[in-house]
Amino acid sequence: MEPRYVDNAIIEESYRAIDRLKAGLGNAHPLYYIETYGCQMNEHDSEKIAGMLESIGYRKAASKTEADIIIFNTCCIRDHAEKRTFGNVGFIKELKAQNPALITGVCGCMMQQREVAKRLSQRFPFVDMIFGTNELHVFPQLLEKVVNGGRVFEIRDTDGEIAEGLPVKRNEGFSTFVNIMYGCNNFCSYCIVPYVRGRERSRRAEDIVEEVRNVVREGFTEVTLLGQNVNSYNGGGVRFPELLRMVNEVEGLKRLRFMTSHPKDLSHELVMAMAECDKVCEHIHLPVQSGSNRILQLMNRRYTREHYLELVRDLRENVKGVEITTDIIVGFPTETEEDLEDTLSLVREVGYSAAYSFAYSVREGTKAAVMDGQIPEEVKKERLKRLNEVIAESVTGANDKYMGLEGEILVEGRDMRGEPMMFGKLPSLKMVYVKGDESMIGNYYKVRITGTRFNSLVGEIID
Ligand code: 5AD
Ligand code: SF4
Repeated sequence: MEPRYVDNAIIEESYRAIDRLKAGLGNAHPLYYIETYGCQMNEHDSEKIAGMLESIGYRKAASKTEADIIIFNTCCIRDHAEKRTFGNVGFIKELKAQNPALITGVCGCMMQQREVAKRLSQRFPFVDMIFGTNELHVFPQLLEKVVNGGRVFEIRDTDGEIAEGLPVKRNEGFSTFVNIMYGCNNFCSYCIVPYVRGRERSRRAEDIVEEVRNVVREGFTEVTLLGQNVNSYNGGGVRFPELLRMVNEVEGLKRLRFMTSHPKDLSHELVMAMAECDKVCEHIHLPVQSGSNRILQLMNRRYTREHYLELVRDLRENVKGVEITTDIIVGFPTETEEDLEDTLSLVREVGYSAAYSFAYSVREGTKAAVMDGQIPEEVKKERLKRLNEVIAESVTGANDKYMGLEGEILVEGRDMRGEPMMFGKLPSLKMVYVKGDESMIGNYYKVRITGTRFNSLVGEIID
């Protein structure tokens, strides 16, 4: 099905609202502060809000206390994220008391859950604007309402459309994100994302390539293509491996990354595209979630442990030096000791370079929330601890193979702990620390690995 695009007339109205707000500010440059929770998708959404604010004339604040507008871009993937948001929005009350002109807004995935948004709105009447993930492109119109004295509560239950052509203020650095698709159709039984981000919709391949060209022109050399499940990208018949090959051709681009990949859709064709495209980095984030076939089935993941291990074999065989990272959930309903052992043995077998581990968190409205056999919190905690020990062993063990190897890093910054060192990532996403100074930031250097740390490496520059 072809995705729906936001009508041009609406985007044009957004630009007119930007112009009106800008005129209203005159020569003033009030300050904005955006607090972002959750994944890269949210981070990138915040860059879009920042883009619109900067077009109006706002400038970035160094802290919340000096800001004239504060926006919380929320996440609801786990319970913890929700609690933190309520706590932090509560703190704003005092700032608002000191500065009644302060504008405050809450948006993002958590607000897409209408009940939660209502609760937040009632509990914090000083919040001026509440809006969902489908309203990003009309942010200027919503802000205009608030500036004119109104309060905004704007959440649409639609499956969302694609909005093209809005300004983006990208985070500083040399690496940036480009959306290739929105939403998710997978309905993993524990996950809230399909409910808050709507159905899958892919951007046109030519729009993506154009955006990559533009960010390269702006000075970025590394791009990460973003989607909830990039392997099911389908932009008017262009599938993901072909898209990778198209983006790989963009002149001036040095490194190409993507996330996230769903194991059920990872094709051999994609593995070969990774192997053959010189700019595609030797890294894949491939969430496994569990090593037990019984749990994988209950999670509605639609692959088996054996299939997953087969993918790992295919990747290792064809993409030289590839590193694999993952997400794992423990304490899913009915999980037994044997199921956990299956997960631990899978972690040992794969040898991840990093693994993000989570205790299962009940998300209202999902299938797993009403499953029998919910696991007590203490058991989840204890299992998470055991999983983390195995991950740590596995990650540290996998570092040794780097000793003496050569590779290229993109220097990102300076580490101030202990003896100051510069740090940057290899294509495999492994962090390497080297001696040097700030003038190296943003440049690529050949290094030889001379030592290992817990989950990073130490190296020396060889040219
Ligand atoms: N509980 C715990 N972890 C979850 N994730 C998604 N939903 C839940 C949940 N209800 C984890 C998955 C996913 C990552 C982004 O967050 O591991 O890959
Ligand atoms: Fe959630 Fe599964 Fe979709 Fe990932 S693939 S966003 S875990 S439903």
